[in-house]
Amino acid sequence: MGIQFLATGSYLPGDVVTNEDLAQFLDTSDEWITTRTGIKTRHIAKGETTSDLAVEAARAALSGSGLDPEQIGLVICATVSPDISVPMIAAKVKRALGIENAAAFDLNANCSSFVYTTTTAYSLMQTCGYEYALVVGADTNSQIVDWTDRATCVLFGDGAGAAVLAKTDAPGILATHLDCIIDREDALHCANKLHKTPFFDPDTVETLRERPDKIQMKGSKVMKFAIRAFTESAKIVTQKAGVQIADIKAIVPHQANFRILTSAAKSLGVPLERFCVNIDRVANTSAGSVPTALDEAVRSGVIQRGDLVLLAAFGGGLSSGAVLLEW
Ligand code: COA
Repeated sequence: MGIQFLATGSYLPGDVVTNEDLAQFLDTSDEWITTRTGIKTRHIAKGETTSDLAVEAARAALSGSGLDPEQIGLVICATVSPDISVPMIAAKVKRALGIENAAAFDLNANCSSFVYTTTTAYSLMQTCGYEYALVVGADTNSQIVDWTDRATCVLFGDGAGAAVLAKTDAPGILATHLDCIIDREDALHCANKLHKTPFFDPDTVETLRERPDKIQMKGSKVMKFAIRAFTESAKIVTQKAGVQIADIKAIVPHQANFRILTSAAKSLGVPLERFCVNIDRVANTSAGSVPTALDEAVRSGVIQRGDLVLLAAFGGGLSSGAVLLEW
């Protein structure tokens, strides 16, 4: 018995923002952003929230699976930028799609979220008997970036992706690996807002007074971590599964910077053409990153049944992980 990806779906908000659009209000240029990151455009939500994006991606995956909503036993939504905490986004997805009989919860492992979500669903399906699970990654990073910080805001976009996992006779998921090393230097940081209450005033506590509630990043530190973590995760899952990296047909990476992908391809000794890349069009969509690229690769026929596929991600925490599967 294996756990296999049955269908995928994705959703991007309709508004596309180009590098030239950003140069209208930031001291930046299309040339700088393109050469340093590989990003040309990103989708930005204007009027939609993270949970709206999650619902649409989940709807597409469920529709592609051909299942009835009541067959789904588990819904997990991954996000860094939830617009609601109560109910959790997974509950909103359940309600919108009429999924009556499912356990549901949200999960946050920053930009590694989709590999954490997939691994969690895989484990729960094996131990708790769920036949079908819906996993979603969604983010509206435009809500949490500092639009005056040219070194970070140009890197991010909004989007969501989803997949239906099923118990099957096919091998499906072969190996998973999750990791999180301590971020001693706050290389990636974004605080939630603390509110004044009758019992507590955050402004009176020195350590809480100046908490930035937008993404702050030490770019070069994150970049070094990302290349190392990506490469290690890929090697660990291939060793666990007893397969050669050269036999992997498609690598679906977290899309943070095209330079990270070229370096990872080089150190793994894999042709860059095996990487499923959409960063040029969608930028870094955090939890939405891996599943949107996966959906694109499946829909375009790049990934076919029986192919060895690697999902690999890294992000704040500093978290990382990978899932190796036979599609
Ligand atoms: N436009 C123009 N100039 C910019 C700029 C922008 N959008 N952003 C930064 N710069 C400037 C800097 O101010 C710096 O100027 P200075 O030399 O006068 O000080 C110069 O460009 C070089 O900055 P640097 O930070 O050294 O560039 P870099 O080559 O490291 O690229 C990142 C910066 C952020 C693109 C890169 O470090 C990166 O992508 N890191 C990983 C980020 C990541 O993966 N984050 C998400 C993880 S989930």
